[in-house]
Amino acid sequence: MKVSVTTISVAELDVDLLLIPRTREQADGTMADLAAGFGGSVRRSAPDFTGDPDNSLLLYPETGSARRVAFVGLGPSDRVDAESLRIAAAHGATMARSAKAETVGIALDAWDLDAEDAAQALVEGFVLGAYRFDRYRTDARDEGSLQRLVLQATEKDKAVRRGAERGRVVAECVSSARDLVNLSPDEKTPTLLARAMERSAKKHGYVASVWDRAIIEEEGMGGLLAVNRGSTEPPTFTVLEWMPENRRNDHPVVLVGKGVTFDTGGLSLKSTLDSMDAMKSDMAGAAAVVGVMEAVARMELPLYVVGLVPASDNRPGENAYVPGDVVRMHSGKTVEVLNTDAEGRMLLADALSYAKTYNPEIVIDLATLTGAAVVALGQHAAAVMTPEGASSAERVAAMTTAGQRSGERVHPLPMFAEYAKDIESDVADMKNVGGRSAGAVTAAKFLEHFVSYPWIHLDIAGPSFLKKPLPYRPVGGTGFGVRLLVEYLRGFADRKRG
Ligand code: BES
Ligand code: MN
Ligand code: ZN
Repeated sequence: MKVSVTTISVAELDVDLLLIPRTREQADGTMADLAAGFGGSVRRSAPDFTGDPDNSLLLYPETGSARRVAFVGLGPSDRVDAESLRIAAAHGATMARSAKAETVGIALDAWDLDAEDAAQALVEGFVLGAYRFDRYRTDARDEGSLQRLVLQATEKDKAVRRGAERGRVVAECVSSARDLVNLSPDEKTPTLLARAMERSAKKHGYVASVWDRAIIEEEGMGGLLAVNRGSTEPPTFTVLEWMPENRRNDHPVVLVGKGVTFDTGGLSLKSTLDSMDAMKSDMAGAAAVVGVMEAVARMELPLYVVGLVPASDNRPGENAYVPGDVVRMHSGKTVEVLNTDAEGRMLLADALSYAKTYNPEIVIDLATLTGAAVVALGQHAAAVMTPEGASSAERVAAMTTAGQRSGERVHPLPMFAEYAKDIESDVADMKNVGGRSAGAVTAAKFLEHFVSYPWIHLDIAGPSFLKKPLPYRPVGGTGFGVRLLVEYLRGFADRKRG
């Protein structure tokens, strides 16, 4: 979708659908300011529009250049924020689809937030709300084809252009991540996923190198190899790199994404209903890392960023790893496997241990790691965890702020020392499962054994895949983590500027 900014007046804007977001206060009265441009139907229909968040009103104006005008509600004016703008814009995208509009305008107003943030939020909400995954539909429904979005501003403002452009880029990178998650598992085997990452790198100007099984064996990635034993498809380990000349950090920010291309549970087999059936999304962490790398490269962020994606499916094959197996990991530590369904931590541990070779400033992993995180927080937030110590509050605060700004919220869970007891093993350095309690925390405590640098763990099991739609997020992959990490990295780069 093409996105542009104009200062042509609302009445003169020549589009199939003009969206006018209005607050509850702005909806009060006759909206006489618009009647001059669009004719009497505005005044006559004004009483039907409340300005509430779910409220909208479509009309066909007598005058003006737009074929249709739609008011979309923003709620009370003291609560207009980026998220209410995203939701309103997505609502507008739905109306645009049913009207089969090809060109859409959105009127920008002076709400109580920064113009750049407002422009970004409107574009993001609109593009993400318009997202569809129809790769496998042979009966492609005729929903028109959205070609162009125009943000209408009253004055020329560079900040609005910047915000609109960033909104477009971020939404496209989120869409890349969604596409990968929504892909049929047989089209994203570890090798095919690695190929997709190579294509992404080539297209967007960052570097990808793919390790095959031989290199993974040479590196001694015992965790990744153990998970892969039941599979007929070899594992891959992919290294993504963005290292611009104007980077503000010598030591990279390393992003690690769980790339389990399908999680059957292995011999500790999952049941299909409401458990295995969504497990094509078990590489949502990897998909998010790809989306972030695309965004970082396209926005030319002045930061050295590395992405690591260990990938395998997890299956009960003839040679599959079994409960009782003791695995020697990349770090040299040993793990007693007591549940083959706790596979994510096995391959993440190897990637985290390998991350040390970069002498990173910080490592952030994104993983659909535990059902326990879904039980704790549902789909509206990811769990954020970081080891206790000097800067732990600061790390959580930076991620929480990025969550609030991006609309991809996170909430902290503790990593108290006591929880480590749950994964003590009788025969090895640790076991790969705790008990039934605090499952998201014991998973993080497991990973902590392989970490020796500042680290933030994001358990995205809840918000990364939806069975029921949410505003601007259709059923399926949400691309969760891309907006969050882009915002986090922008803040990181800003702090580096001093
Ligand atoms: N991929 C799952 C976690 C998951 C569950 C993601 C639901 C998304 C939605 C992970 O590999 C897993 O199976 N975790 C187990 C761990 C347990 C065996 C300790 C779980 O959470 O049940
Ligand atoms: Mn599992
Ligand atoms: Zn898994």
